[in-house]
Amino acid sequence: MPHPLEELRDAALREISDARDVRALEAARVKYLGRSGSISAWGEQMKTLGKDEKPIVGKLLNEVRSALTAAIEERTQAFRAQKEAGALANIDISLPGSTGPTGYSGYSGHSAASVGYSGYLPLERGSLHPLTQMLDRSIDIFRRMGFALADGPDVEDEWHCFDALNTPPEHPARNEQDTFYLPDGRLLRTHTSTVQIRAMQAAPPPMRVIAPGAAYRRDEVDAMHSAQFHQIEGLYVDETVSVGDLKGTLELFMRELFGPDTEVQFRPHYFPFTEPSLEIYVKSKALKRGEQWIEVAGCGMVHPAVFEAVNKARGDHAYDPEKWTGFAFGLGMDRLAMILFDIPDIRLFAQNDLRFLRQFA
Ligand code: DAH
Repeated sequence: MPHPLEELRDAALREISDARDVRALEAARVKYLGRSGSISAWGEQMKTLGKDEKPIVGKLLNEVRSALTAAIEERTQAFRAQKEAGALANIDISLPGSTGPTGYSGYSGHSAASVGYSGYLPLERGSLHPLTQMLDRSIDIFRRMGFALADGPDVEDEWHCFDALNTPPEHPARNEQDTFYLPDGRLLRTHTSTVQIRAMQAAPPPMRVIAPGAAYRRDEVDAMHSAQFHQIEGLYVDETVSVGDLKGTLELFMRELFGPDTEVQFRPHYFPFTEPSLEIYVKSKALKRGEQWIEVAGCGMVHPAVFEAVNKARGDHAYDPEKWTGFAFGLGMDRLAMILFDIPDIRLFAQNDLRFLRQFA
């Protein structure tokens, strides 16, 4: 004959599997497992049992309790899954999005009213700005070569922008006519080279970083000049870094960007913070302006005076110019994007004209 507890279990399991909804299931749980439910009552009864019976009934009671708990849990999960499936059943995730009856249509000049449409308009798909695309591509190439990302503020002090970069007070780049100064003496950085200094202040060599970002100059604005433009700065400091490494790195970069047939030329130049200093020109048949050499970057070997300025600020001799050498470069991102996408006027980048931007979607 089955034990009364087994009978109780079978009845309870039947009730659980027959429960048609969450409420019925909860009622069954309370009836059997609740504080004053049948199982608890059996627990009380245990106290009255004799020594021989106690362990047998105790074991059975535990088994019945776990069986019921598991069955209830299983049904609860099943109800939950059912509910979720039901909630999703009426949603067509392949339908195009909508902006709502009062939402912005996304089209310039075509408001809902002007096209005689009072309902929902589709959301337009956005795309990345050509400069962002250019930055992403460039950063990706340098990351593959092992460069980490570094960052610095757009509003800088003169020391990071000039003094630490071996640019003396009388240098024309510091002229008020060339640079945006704030009333407190700070300025908008005229190049991303500031981040070279910040990165070296923050960590000892070896150092291999790129720093993408905006730079500012009081240039006369025209098709080739803008008050705000974008650069990627690069800095590589190690024990045996040479001009050969510099050339190899930047040639590889240009070929990855403009294609394997790209010709790269390094011409002597002058920058206060590098010695020797070079300018980089590219030419590629793959580009519309293919037959022309185009200047795209400045670069050179880090000047010992830059290392010494950093050492002084750090209060140590981590960047000992006798031990470490480095190369640095500054790439004009707007210029590179103009070449790659054949864009005739730098001002287009900032005008937010959708006819222009849509071409890069
Ligand atoms: N900072 C320079 C500019 O804006 C570009 C540059 C030249 C950066 C040489 C460098 C460098 O790091 O080594 O014109």
